[in-house]
Amino acid sequence: MRVGVAKEIKPQEYRVALTPAGARELVQLGHDVLVETQAGLGSAFPDEAYERTGARIVSVDEVWQQADLLLKVKEPIEPEYRHLREGLTLFTYLHIAADEPLTRALVESGIAAVAYETVETDRGALPLLAPMSEVAGRLATQAGAHCLEKPLGGRGLLLGGVAGVAPGKVVIIGGGIVGYNAAVIALGMGAQVTILERSVDRMRHLEEVLSGRVSLLMSSSLQIEESVRGADLVIGAVLIPGARAPKLVTREMIREMKEGSVFCDVAIDQGGCAETSRATTHDEPTYVVDGVTHYCVANMPGAVPITSTKALTNVTLPYVEAIAARGLRAAVDADRELARGVNVLVGKVTYEAVAEAHRLDYTPLEEALPLSRV
Ligand SMILES: NC(=O)c1ccc[n+]([C@@H]2O[C@H](COP(=O)([O-])OP(=O)(O)OC[C@H]3O[C@@H](n4cnc5c(N)ncnc54)[C@H](O)[C@@H]3O)[C@@H](O)[C@H]2O)c1
Repeated sequence: MRVGVAKEIKPQEYRVALTPAGARELVQLGHDVLVETQAGLGSAFPDEAYERTGARIVSVDEVWQQADLLLKVKEPIEPEYRHLREGLTLFTYLHIAADEPLTRALVESGIAAVAYETVETDRGALPLLAPMSEVAGRLATQAGAHCLEKPLGGRGLLLGGVAGVAPGKVVIIGGGIVGYNAAVIALGMGAQVTILERSVDRMRHLEEVLSGRVSLLMSSSLQIEESVRGADLVIGAVLIPGARAPKLVTREMIREMKEGSVFCDVAIDQGGCAETSRATTHDEPTYVVDGVTHYCVANMPGAVPITSTKALTNVTLPYVEAIAARGLRAAVDADRELARGVNVLVGKVTYEAVAEAHRLDYTPLEEALPLSRV
Protein backbone atom coordinates (compact mmCIF):
# COMPACT_ATOMS: atom_id res chain seq x y z
CA MET A 1 0.00 0.00 0.00
CA ARG A 2 1.05 3.60 -0.52
CA VAL A 3 1.16 5.25 2.88
CA GLY A 4 1.42 9.05 2.83
CA VAL A 5 2.44 11.40 5.62
CA ALA A 6 1.22 14.98 5.21
CA LYS A 7 2.84 18.01 6.79
CA GLU A 8 0.65 19.74 9.36
CA ILE A 9 -0.31 23.27 8.36
CA LYS A 10 -2.49 24.18 11.35
CA PRO A 11 -0.87 27.09 13.23
CA GLN A 12 1.35 26.00 16.16
CA GLU A 13 1.23 22.32 15.18
CA TYR A 14 4.71 20.79 15.05
CA ARG A 15 3.88 17.11 15.39
CA VAL A 16 4.08 14.64 12.50
CA ALA A 17 2.05 11.44 12.09
CA LEU A 18 4.95 9.03 11.51
CA THR A 19 8.52 8.93 12.82
CA PRO A 20 11.44 7.65 10.73
CA ALA A 21 11.37 4.54 12.93
CA GLY A 22 7.74 3.99 11.96
CA ALA A 23 8.54 4.67 8.30
CA ARG A 24 11.24 2.00 8.40
CA GLU A 25 8.81 -0.57 9.85
CA LEU A 26 6.36 0.12 7.02
CA VAL A 27 9.06 0.03 4.32
CA GLN A 28 10.31 -3.30 5.70
CA LEU A 29 6.76 -4.64 5.45
CA GLY A 30 6.87 -3.83 1.75
CA HIS A 31 4.85 -0.60 1.70
CA ASP A 32 5.64 2.48 -0.31
CA VAL A 33 6.01 5.37 2.16
CA LEU A 34 5.60 8.93 0.87
CA VAL A 35 6.50 11.78 3.22
CA GLU A 36 5.67 15.37 2.39
CA THR A 37 8.79 17.50 2.33
CA GLN A 38 9.64 18.98 5.75
CA ALA A 39 6.74 17.14 7.39
CA GLY A 40 8.93 16.03 10.31
CA LEU A 41 10.96 19.19 10.75
CA GLY A 42 8.94 20.53 13.72
CA SER A 43 9.63 17.27 15.57
CA ALA A 44 13.34 17.35 14.70
CA PHE A 45 13.10 14.75 11.92
CA PRO A 46 14.65 16.16 8.72
CA ASP A 47 13.75 14.78 5.27
CA GLU A 48 17.05 12.84 5.15
CA ALA A 49 16.05 10.82 8.22
CA TYR A 50 13.03 9.51 6.31
CA GLU A 51 14.97 9.02 3.08
CA ARG A 52 17.46 6.80 4.91
CA THR A 53 14.58 4.44 5.79
CA GLY A 54 13.61 4.03 2.13
CA ALA A 55 10.70 6.48 2.25
CA ARG A 56 10.28 8.97 -0.59
CA ILE A 57 10.07 12.72 -0.02
CA VAL A 58 7.31 14.25 -2.15
CA SER A 59 5.33 17.49 -2.58
CA VAL A 60 2.05 18.28 -0.86
CA ASP A 61 0.00 17.49 -4.00
CA GLU A 62 1.86 14.24 -4.58
CA VAL A 63 1.35 12.97 -1.06
CA TRP A 64 -2.41 13.59 -1.12
CA GLN A 65 -2.89 12.35 -4.71
CA GLN A 66 -0.74 9.23 -4.61
CA ALA A 67 -1.43 7.84 -1.14
CA ASP A 68 -3.97 5.09 -0.49
CA LEU A 69 -3.71 5.71 3.26
CA LEU A 70 -2.90 9.22 4.44
CA LEU A 71 -1.61 9.85 7.96
CA LYS A 72 -1.97 13.17 9.73
CA VAL A 73 -2.06 14.46 13.29
CA LYS A 74 -4.72 17.18 13.21
CA GLU A 75 -7.98 17.41 11.32
CA PRO A 76 -7.78 18.85 7.79
CA ILE A 77 -8.33 22.60 7.83
CA GLU A 78 -10.08 24.53 5.07
CA PRO A 79 -7.12 24.86 2.64
CA GLU A 80 -6.74 21.06 2.81
CA TYR A 81 -10.36 20.26 1.91
CA ARG A 82 -9.50 20.31 -1.82
CA HIS A 83 -7.33 17.21 -1.33
CA LEU A 84 -10.12 15.03 0.10
CA ARG A 85 -11.22 12.40 -2.41
CA GLU A 86 -12.85 9.03 -2.89
CA GLY A 87 -10.52 6.05 -2.64
CA LEU A 88 -8.37 7.67 0.05
CA THR A 89 -8.34 6.57 3.70
CA LEU A 90 -7.48 9.36 6.13
CA PHE A 91 -6.24 8.42 9.62
CA THR A 92 -5.89 11.36 12.03
CA TYR A 93 -7.42 13.21 15.00
CA LEU A 94 -10.70 14.56 13.59
CA HIS A 95 -13.01 15.80 16.39
CA ILE A 96 -15.71 16.38 13.78
CA ALA A 97 -18.65 16.35 16.19
CA ALA A 98 -17.54 19.93 16.86
CA ASP A 99 -16.77 20.79 13.21
CA GLU A 100 -19.69 20.84 10.81
CA PRO A 101 -17.87 22.29 7.75
CA LEU A 102 -15.26 19.52 7.91
CA THR A 103 -17.91 16.83 8.43
CA ARG A 104 -19.70 18.02 5.31
CA ALA A 105 -16.45 18.24 3.32
CA LEU A 106 -15.57 14.66 4.30
CA VAL A 107 -19.04 13.37 3.43
CA GLU A 108 -19.13 15.16 0.08
CA SER A 109 -15.66 13.99 -0.91
CA GLY A 110 -16.39 10.25 -0.57
CA ILE A 111 -13.23 9.75 1.53
CA ALA A 112 -12.90 7.14 4.32
CA ALA A 113 -12.10 9.07 7.51
CA VAL A 114 -10.88 7.22 10.59
CA ALA A 115 -10.54 9.30 13.78
CA TYR A 116 -7.80 8.53 16.30
CA GLU A 117 -9.96 9.79 19.14
CA THR A 118 -12.85 7.37 18.58
CA VAL A 119 -10.77 4.19 18.29
CA GLU A 120 -12.07 2.53 21.45
CA THR A 121 -11.51 -0.75 23.25
CA ASP A 122 -14.38 -2.95 24.44
CA ARG A 123 -13.80 -1.58 27.94
CA GLY A 124 -14.24 2.01 26.77
CA ALA A 125 -10.54 2.99 26.84
CA LEU A 126 -9.29 5.38 24.14
CA PRO A 127 -5.80 4.10 23.28
CA LEU A 128 -4.98 6.86 20.78
CA LEU A 129 -5.91 9.67 23.17
CA ALA A 130 -4.11 8.24 26.20
CA PRO A 131 -0.55 9.26 25.24
CA MET A 132 -1.58 12.90 24.82
CA SER A 133 -3.15 12.80 28.29
CA GLU A 134 0.11 11.39 29.63
CA VAL A 135 2.04 14.26 28.06
CA ALA A 136 -0.48 16.92 29.18
CA GLY A 137 -0.53 15.60 32.76
CA ARG A 138 3.24 15.68 33.08
CA LEU A 139 3.42 19.09 31.46
CA ALA A 140 0.72 20.49 33.77
CA THR A 141 2.90 20.13 36.85
CA GLN A 142 5.95 21.45 35.00
CA ALA A 143 4.01 24.50 33.71
CA GLY A 144 2.42 25.04 37.11
CA ALA A 145 5.76 24.93 38.91
CA HIS A 146 7.14 27.46 36.44
CA CYS A 147 4.16 29.80 36.89
CA LEU A 148 4.72 29.76 40.67
CA GLU A 149 8.04 31.55 40.16
CA LYS A 150 8.03 35.22 41.13
CA PRO A 151 9.26 36.67 37.81
CA LEU A 152 6.25 35.04 36.15
CA GLY A 153 3.83 36.60 38.60
CA GLY A 154 3.67 33.57 40.88
CA ARG A 155 3.88 33.33 44.67
CA GLY A 156 7.61 32.77 44.48
CA LEU A 157 7.52 29.23 45.77
CA LEU A 158 9.62 26.18 44.89
CA LEU A 159 7.28 23.20 44.68
CA GLY A 160 9.76 20.78 46.19
CA GLY A 161 10.88 23.08 49.01
CA VAL A 162 14.37 22.34 50.39
CA ALA A 163 15.69 20.71 53.56
CA GLY A 164 14.13 22.67 56.40
CA VAL A 165 11.49 24.37 54.21
CA ALA A 166 8.09 22.82 53.54
CA PRO A 167 7.20 21.80 49.97
CA GLY A 168 4.33 23.32 47.99
CA LYS A 169 0.85 21.80 47.94
CA VAL A 170 -0.49 20.39 44.68
CA VAL A 171 -4.18 19.51 44.42
CA ILE A 172 -5.25 17.46 41.41
CA ILE A 173 -8.97 17.19 40.60
CA GLY A 174 -9.56 13.96 38.67
CA GLY A 175 -7.24 10.99 39.02
CA GLY A 176 -7.40 9.55 35.50
CA ILE A 177 -4.51 9.49 33.04
CA VAL A 178 -3.84 13.23 33.23
CA GLY A 179 -4.19 13.27 37.03
CA TYR A 180 -1.93 10.27 37.57
CA ASN A 181 0.81 11.69 35.35
CA ALA A 182 0.57 15.13 36.95
CA ALA A 183 0.97 13.42 40.34
CA VAL A 184 4.01 11.42 39.21
CA ILE A 185 5.87 14.61 38.28
CA ALA A 186 4.70 16.52 41.35
CA LEU A 187 5.94 13.69 43.58
CA GLY A 188 9.19 13.62 41.67
CA MET A 189 9.62 17.33 42.38
CA GLY A 190 9.03 16.68 46.06
CA ALA A 191 5.65 18.40 46.36
CA GLN A 192 2.87 17.43 48.76
CA VAL A 193 0.18 15.91 46.53
CA THR A 194 -3.57 15.42 46.95
CA ILE A 195 -5.82 13.83 44.34
CA LEU A 196 -9.59 14.29 44.45
CA GLU A 197 -11.45 11.51 42.63
CA ARG A 198 -15.01 10.30 42.31
CA SER A 199 -14.28 6.64 41.65
CA VAL A 200 -13.31 4.60 44.72
CA ASP A 201 -11.91 1.84 42.50
CA ARG A 202 -9.68 4.34 40.75
CA MET A 203 -8.48 5.68 44.11
CA ARG A 204 -7.63 2.16 45.26
CA HIS A 205 -5.60 1.70 42.10
CA LEU A 206 -3.80 5.05 42.57
CA GLU A 207 -3.07 4.20 46.21
CA GLU A 208 -1.36 1.03 45.05
CA VAL A 209 0.62 2.37 42.09
CA LEU A 210 1.72 5.52 43.90
CA SER A 211 2.68 3.49 46.97
CA GLY A 212 0.56 5.61 49.30
CA ARG A 213 2.62 8.75 48.63
CA VAL A 214 -0.43 10.90 47.76
CA SER A 215 -3.53 11.82 49.77
CA LEU A 216 -6.60 10.46 48.01
CA LEU A 217 -9.88 12.18 48.81
CA MET A 218 -13.43 11.66 47.61
CA SER A 219 -14.34 14.53 45.33
CA SER A 220 -17.29 16.60 46.56
CA SER A 221 -18.08 20.28 46.38
CA LEU A 222 -17.09 20.79 50.03
CA GLN A 223 -13.87 18.79 49.70
CA ILE A 224 -12.88 20.69 46.56
CA GLU A 225 -13.54 24.00 48.33
CA GLU A 226 -11.36 23.04 51.31
CA SER A 227 -8.53 21.54 49.24
CA VAL A 228 -8.36 24.33 46.67
CA ARG A 229 -8.20 26.99 49.39
CA GLY A 230 -4.94 25.62 50.78
CA ALA A 231 -3.27 24.73 47.48
CA ASP A 232 -0.36 26.42 45.76
CA LEU A 233 -1.06 24.65 42.47
CA VAL A 234 -4.43 23.20 41.43
CA ILE A 235 -4.63 20.98 38.36
CA GLY A 236 -8.02 20.36 36.71
CA ALA A 237 -8.01 16.87 35.18
CA VAL A 238 -11.60 15.62 35.21
CA LEU A 239 -13.40 13.96 32.35
CA ILE A 240 -16.96 12.84 31.95
CA PRO A 241 -16.83 10.99 28.62
CA GLY A 242 -18.83 12.64 25.88
CA ALA A 243 -19.81 15.63 28.04
CA ARG A 244 -18.51 19.09 28.77
CA ALA A 245 -16.35 19.28 31.89
CA PRO A 246 -18.36 20.01 35.05
CA LYS A 247 -17.66 23.41 36.65
CA LEU A 248 -16.27 22.03 39.90
CA VAL A 249 -14.20 25.09 40.87
CA THR A 250 -16.28 28.20 41.41
CA ARG A 251 -15.18 31.80 41.11
CA GLU A 252 -15.59 32.08 44.88
CA MET A 253 -13.09 29.21 45.42
CA ILE A 254 -10.58 30.93 43.11
CA ARG A 255 -11.02 34.18 45.05
CA GLU A 256 -10.14 32.36 48.27
CA MET A 257 -6.88 30.92 46.89
CA LYS A 258 -3.61 32.50 47.94
CA GLU A 259 -2.31 35.47 45.92
CA GLY A 260 0.06 34.21 43.22
CA SER A 261 -1.09 30.60 43.34
CA VAL A 262 -1.72 28.73 40.07
CA PHE A 263 -4.67 26.95 38.49
CA CYS A 264 -3.83 24.76 35.51
CA ASP A 265 -7.00 23.55 33.77
CA VAL A 266 -6.05 20.62 31.56
CA ALA A 267 -9.75 19.84 31.05
CA ILE A 268 -10.06 23.10 29.12
CA ASP A 269 -10.41 21.16 25.85
CA GLN A 270 -13.77 19.99 27.22
CA GLY A 271 -14.75 23.50 28.31
CA GLY A 272 -12.71 23.62 31.53
CA CYS A 273 -13.63 22.64 35.09
CA ALA A 274 -13.57 26.12 36.67
CA GLU A 275 -15.98 28.99 36.22
CA THR A 276 -12.99 31.23 35.56
CA SER A 277 -11.39 29.08 32.83
CA ARG A 278 -11.10 30.15 29.22
CA ALA A 279 -8.93 28.53 26.56
CA THR A 280 -5.49 30.00 25.91
CA THR A 281 -2.70 29.24 23.41
CA HIS A 282 1.04 28.62 23.74
CA ASP A 283 1.61 32.19 22.52
CA GLU A 284 -0.14 33.58 25.58
CA PRO A 285 -0.69 30.63 27.90
CA THR A 286 -1.76 32.40 31.09
CA TYR A 287 -4.04 35.10 32.47
CA VAL A 288 -4.83 36.20 36.02
CA VAL A 289 -8.19 36.14 37.83
CA ASP A 290 -8.39 37.40 41.41
CA GLY A 291 -4.62 37.06 41.84
CA VAL A 292 -4.56 33.43 40.62
CA THR A 293 -2.58 32.62 37.49
CA HIS A 294 -4.67 30.49 35.11
CA TYR A 295 -2.88 28.23 32.62
CA CYS A 296 -5.52 26.88 30.22
CA VAL A 297 -3.79 25.79 27.01
CA ALA A 298 -6.13 23.60 24.97
CA ASN A 299 -3.38 21.73 23.08
CA MET A 300 -0.69 21.31 25.71
CA PRO A 301 1.18 18.43 23.94
CA GLY A 302 1.92 20.86 21.09
CA ALA A 303 4.58 22.46 23.31
CA VAL A 304 6.70 19.31 23.27
CA PRO A 305 6.37 17.94 19.71
CA ILE A 306 9.40 15.66 19.89
CA THR A 307 7.94 13.72 22.83
CA SER A 308 4.34 13.97 21.62
CA THR A 309 5.12 12.76 18.10
CA LYS A 310 6.92 9.69 19.41
CA ALA A 311 4.24 8.96 22.01
CA LEU A 312 1.50 9.28 19.40
CA THR A 313 3.15 7.19 16.71
CA ASN A 314 3.99 4.45 19.23
CA VAL A 315 0.26 3.82 19.58
CA THR A 316 -0.96 4.55 16.04
CA LEU A 317 1.58 2.38 14.20
CA PRO A 318 -0.06 -1.01 14.91
CA TYR A 319 -3.34 0.28 13.44
CA VAL A 320 -1.50 1.80 10.47
CA GLU A 321 0.20 -1.54 9.85
CA ALA A 322 -3.14 -3.35 10.03
CA ILE A 323 -4.83 -1.00 7.53
CA ALA A 324 -1.79 -1.07 5.23
CA ALA A 325 -1.60 -4.87 5.30
CA ARG A 326 -5.26 -5.65 4.62
CA GLY A 327 -6.99 -2.50 3.43
CA LEU A 328 -9.45 -0.63 5.64
CA ARG A 329 -12.37 -2.93 4.99
CA ALA A 330 -10.64 -6.14 6.09
CA ALA A 331 -8.83 -4.34 8.91
CA VAL A 332 -12.06 -3.08 10.50
CA ASP A 333 -13.73 -6.45 9.95
CA ALA A 334 -10.97 -7.97 12.04
CA ASP A 335 -10.75 -5.29 14.74
CA ARG A 336 -13.74 -3.75 16.51
CA GLU A 337 -11.54 -1.14 18.19
CA LEU A 338 -10.47 0.21 14.82
CA ALA A 339 -14.01 -0.08 13.43
CA ARG A 340 -15.19 2.38 16.11
CA GLY A 341 -12.73 4.88 14.66
CA VAL A 342 -14.48 5.08 11.28
CA ASN A 343 -16.44 8.33 11.29
CA VAL A 344 -17.19 8.86 7.60
CA LEU A 345 -17.22 6.34 4.75
CA VAL A 346 -18.23 6.81 1.09
CA GLY A 347 -20.47 9.76 1.77
CA LYS A 348 -22.10 8.28 4.89
CA VAL A 349 -21.63 9.31 8.52
CA THR A 350 -20.87 6.07 10.34
CA TYR A 351 -20.35 7.48 13.86
CA GLU A 352 -23.63 8.12 15.62
CA ALA A 353 -22.57 11.04 17.81
CA VAL A 354 -21.25 12.92 14.77
CA ALA A 355 -24.48 12.38 12.81
CA GLU A 356 -26.50 13.53 15.83
CA ALA A 357 -24.34 16.62 16.36
CA HIS A 358 -24.96 17.86 12.82
CA ARG A 359 -28.45 16.37 12.27
CA LEU A 360 -27.15 14.18 9.44
CA ASP A 361 -28.29 10.65 8.64
CA TYR A 362 -26.43 7.94 10.54
CA THR A 363 -25.44 4.79 8.66
CA PRO A 364 -24.06 1.91 10.73
CA LEU A 365 -20.62 0.88 9.50
CA GLU A 366 -21.77 -2.62 8.49
CA GLU A 367 -24.21 -1.03 6.04
CA ALA A 368 -21.73 1.44 4.58
CA LEU A 369 -18.77 -0.95 4.25
CA PRO A 370 -20.07 -3.11 1.38
CA LEU A 371 -20.44 0.07 -0.70
CA SER A 372 -16.86 1.16 -0.17
CA ARG A 373 -13.85 0.56 -2.36
CA VAL A 374 -11.29 0.87 0.45
N1 LIG B 1 -5.37 20.56 27.44
C1 LIG B 1 -4.80 19.56 26.80
O1 LIG B 1 -3.88 19.73 26.02
C2 LIG B 1 -5.27 18.16 27.07
C3 LIG B 1 -4.52 17.05 26.63
C4 LIG B 1 -4.97 15.77 26.94
C5 LIG B 1 -6.16 15.60 27.68
N2 LIG B 1 -6.88 16.70 28.06
C6 LIG B 1 -8.12 16.62 28.85
O2 LIG B 1 -7.83 16.27 30.20
C7 LIG B 1 -9.01 15.75 30.79
C8 LIG B 1 -8.68 14.46 31.54
O3 LIG B 1 -8.31 13.46 30.59
P1 LIG B 1 -7.92 11.98 31.05
O4 LIG B 1 -7.36 11.31 29.85
O5 LIG B 1 -7.13 12.03 32.28
O6 LIG B 1 -9.35 11.36 31.36
P2 LIG B 1 -9.62 10.07 32.26
O7 LIG B 1 -10.98 9.58 31.85
O8 LIG B 1 -8.48 9.15 32.24
O9 LIG B 1 -9.72 10.68 33.74
C9 LIG B 1 -10.74 11.53 34.17
C10 LIG B 1 -10.97 11.25 35.64
O10 LIG B 1 -11.85 12.26 36.15
C11 LIG B 1 -12.60 11.61 37.18
N3 LIG B 1 -13.73 12.45 37.50
C12 LIG B 1 -14.90 12.61 36.83
N4 LIG B 1 -15.70 13.47 37.49
C13 LIG B 1 -15.01 13.87 38.60
C14 LIG B 1 -15.30 14.74 39.68
N5 LIG B 1 -16.47 15.38 39.77
N6 LIG B 1 -14.35 14.92 40.61
C15 LIG B 1 -13.16 14.28 40.55
N7 LIG B 1 -12.85 13.42 39.56
C16 LIG B 1 -13.77 13.23 38.60
C17 LIG B 1 -12.94 10.27 36.57
O11 LIG B 1 -13.35 9.35 37.58
C18 LIG B 1 -11.63 9.89 35.92
O12 LIG B 1 -10.80 9.12 36.76
C19 LIG B 1 -10.00 15.56 29.63
O13 LIG B 1 -10.88 16.65 29.60
C20 LIG B 1 -9.11 15.57 28.42
O14 LIG B 1 -9.81 15.94 27.26
C21 LIG B 1 -6.45 17.96 27.76
